[in-house]
Amino acid sequence: MKQFLNDRLPLDGVMAHLRKPLPKHINLLFSLGSLAMFLLLLQAATGAFLALSYSPSPDHAHNAVNYITNEVPFGNFVRGLHHWGASAMVIIVFLHILRVVLYGSYKAPRELTWVVGVLLLLVTLGFGFTGYLLPWDEKAYWATVVGIEISSTAPILGDVVAKVMRGGAEVGAVTLSRFYALHTIWLPWLAFGLVGVHLFLVRFYGSSGLPKNTPEEMKTGKPFYPDQVFEDVVGMLILFVILACAALFAPVPLEDVADPTNADYDPRPEWYFLFLFQLLKYFQGPFEILGTFVIPTVGMLLLLFLPFLDRSERKVLWKRPIAMTVTSVCVVAIVGLTILGATAPKLETQEEAAQPADEVQQVIPPDTETENVDEGEDVFDFQLTEEEIEGAREVGEESE
Ligand code: HEM
Repeated sequence: MKQFLNDRLPLDGVMAHLRKPLPKHINLLFSLGSLAMFLLLLQAATGAFLALSYSPSPDHAHNAVNYITNEVPFGNFVRGLHHWGASAMVIIVFLHILRVVLYGSYKAPRELTWVVGVLLLLVTLGFGFTGYLLPWDEKAYWATVVGIEISSTAPILGDVVAKVMRGGAEVGAVTLSRFYALHTIWLPWLAFGLVGVHLFLVRFYGSSGLPKNTPEEMKTGKPFYPDQVFEDVVGMLILFVILACAALFAPVPLEDVADPTNADYDPRPEWYFLFLFQLLKYFQGPFEILGTFVIPTVGMLLLLFLPFLDRSERKVLWKRPIAMTVTSVCVVAIVGLTILGATAPKLETQEEAAQPADEVQQVIPPDTETENVDEGEDVFDFQLTEEEIEGAREVGEESE
C-alpha cells in the first residue's frame, strides 16, 4: 500500500518537509496556532451535528434548540462543546496574537501571515456575532438588534450594511436566514480558505522561533514531525477535556423565545463583545460615533497594518518599550472594559447612571413609547421607534 501511494504521490518529499528541524528555542506558546486550528475544526464538526436538527426560522429555531438540548441523544453535550468552543476559540486566538506580538513574529518577512491572521480574527468574531442570533431567544434577538443598530452608525455605508444584514427594516425571518447562511456557509468557506493561506505562509517562511536564536540555531531544533506535532496533539487533548467538562457541567442557557415587542429587555452581547459595548457608554451625543465606529475601526486598521508601522529591530517585547507600552495599554483596556461591562447591572448611559432610578424610568418608559425622546438626546437609547415596533408586530403576526 505504502509503495502504491509512494509511486503515485510525492509522499517522501512531504515527509522530508515535515521532518525539517524547527528553530532551537521554541516553547509551548508556539502551540497556540495549532490549538486555534483544532478549535475551528471542532466548531465545524459540532456545528455540522447541530445543523441536522436546527431550523432557521423564527417559528422553529427556538423549539429546535430546545429539542437539541433536551431530546436529541448527546445534543446537550454537542451544543455545550460548540458554545464553550466558541469562547475558547476567541481566547486562544487572542493569546496567539499576544504570542506573535511578544516575540515580534509579525516582522519581515511575515507581514502577510499577520495580515491574513487579522482577517481570521475578524472571521472568528463574525462567527460569534452571527451564531448568537441562532437560538432566537430574547438575548439573541435584542443583542442582534443593538449590534446592527451600532453598525448602522457608520458613515456612508452604515445604513446599507444594516439593511443588508437585516434583510429589511426589522430583525426578523430574513435576518435569521441570512445569519444562518453566513454562519454555516460563507464564514466557514472564508475561514478554511484563509487558514489554508495562513498555514502555507507559516510553512513557507518557517517558524520565526525566539528573537534570541542565532542563524545557526534557526535550523537545529527538534523536528516539526513527530516532536512538535506530538506536543500540539497533547495540547488539543487537554483542551478537549476542559471543553467536555464545561459541556457536561455548565449548561448552555436558553432564554424565552424572542419577543420583538419586549423593548424593556436589557440587551447584552456575548462576553467577547462586551468591551465594545462598554466603550459606547463613554461617548454621548455628537461623540457617539467615536465609540460605535471611529475607535473600533481605527483600532482594527492599526492592528492590520502593525507590521508596516512597527519597523523596529526584532526583539522580545520587553526590550521594545513603545511596543510594550502600547500592548499593555490595549490588553488592560480590553480586559478592564470587559470586566466593567460584565459587572454593570444594566446597559445604561453615563447620564442614566448618575440619575436616580425613578428619573431613569422617565427617560426609558416601560411601555416602549418613545415619541417623547428627542433624537440624539439620549444617545445610548436603543429603544425601537413606534414604526419599528409596529413592523415587528407585523413580523410576529405573519409568522403566527
Ligand atoms: C483561526 C485563527 C488562526 C489559526 C487557525 C492560526 C493558525 C496558526 C498556526 C498553526 C501557526 C503556526 C504555529 C504558531 O506559530 O503558533 C500560526 C502562526 C502565525 N500566526 Fe496564526 N492563526 C490564527 C489567527 C491568527 C491571528 C488572528 C494572527 C494575527 C493577528 C495570526 C498571526 C500569525 C503569525 C504572524 C504567525 C507566524 C508566527 C511565527 O512564524 O512565529 N494568526 N498561526
